[in-house]
Amino acid sequence: MPSSAPTLPMSELPYADNLAADEAAAESGVTEPRPDACTVPRHVAVVMDGNGRWARQRYMPRFFGHKQGVDALVRAIDAFNARGVRYLTVFAFSSENWKRPTEEVSGLMSLVLVGVSKYLDKLAGDGVRIRIIGDRATVSDRLRQAWDEAERLTQSNDRITLVVAFNYGGRWDVVQACRRALAEGVAPDAVDEDWLSRHMALSFAPDPDLFIRTGGEMRMSNFLLWQAAYSELFFTECLWPDFGEAEIDAALTAFAQRDRRFGGIRPQQAAREDT
Ligand code: FPP
Repeated sequence: MPSSAPTLPMSELPYADNLAADEAAAESGVTEPRPDACTVPRHVAVVMDGNGRWARQRYMPRFFGHKQGVDALVRAIDAFNARGVRYLTVFAFSSENWKRPTEEVSGLMSLVLVGVSKYLDKLAGDGVRIRIIGDRATVSDRLRQAWDEAERLTQSNDRITLVVAFNYGGRWDVVQACRRALAEGVAPDAVDEDWLSRHMALSFAPDPDLFIRTGGEMRMSNFLLWQAAYSELFFTECLWPDFGEAEIDAALTAFAQRDRRFGGIRPQQAAREDT
C-alpha cells in the first residue's frame, strides 16, 4: 500500500479561508466562478489516460497497467488532499469504454471491486468522501452495491471529495438532466443554466477549476463537457501510472500562473484602458 502524503490541519490548508463559502455555494447549487480565488484549485478533474501504453512498454497485458493505475489514483488522492484540493473527479470508465474488448471491460469492473475492498478503509480513515457519478442502471448489482457502500461509509467525511465518474459521459449527463426536467413537467422558461447545473451529476460540487489529462492526448473525450466550460486545461505526456507528486506540482504550478477571466476582463485592465 502506498504511504500517505502528510496532511495539513484544516485551518492551515491553502484554501482555508474559502472553504465555508465554497461549501455554501455548492450546497445551494450556485457554481459561479470566483476570479479572485486562491491559486490552489478547489476542484481538479482528471482523465487518467495511458495505462495500456504503460503496460505495453513493459511487455505486460493492459490489465496490469490498469492495476497500477488504481495505485496511482490512491497516491494522487493523498497528494491532492495534502495540497488543499477539495474535490478530485476522475474518469474511471466512460460511456464509450463498453466498446473495448469484453475481457478488458470485465477486467476493469473486477479491478474496481478489488480496489474498493482494498482501499476503502484507508480512504475513509483519511477523511475522503466518495461520490460516484454516471449511469448506475447498466452496471452489475455487485458494483452498484460496492459504490453504495463506499458512499455510505464516507458520507460524513469532509477533507476531500473523490468523485469517481463511472459509466459516465458528458453528453449522457446533459441528456439525463433534460429528461428530469421533462419528467418533472418543468416549464421551458424555468430551465436555465442554474437549473441544469443543479440537475447535472456534479450538482454537489463547484465546477472544476483545473482539468488534467495524462497520456499525451489533447482532448476531453466526453468528460464533464458542461462543467468544464471555464476549467483551465493541462495536458501532460506522463502516463497515468507514473503521475506522481512532481507531475501534480507541475500541474498546480501551471494553474497558479493562469489568468482566469471567465469571459470578462480584469478591473485594473478596464481602468487602464479607460484613462
Ligand atoms: C485509460 O487508459 C484508462 C482507463 C480507461 C481506465 C482508468 C481506470 C482506472 C485507473 C481504475 C480506476 C479504479 C477505481 C477503483 C476508481 P487507456 O487504457 O486508454 O490507456 P492507453 O491510452 O495507453 O491505451
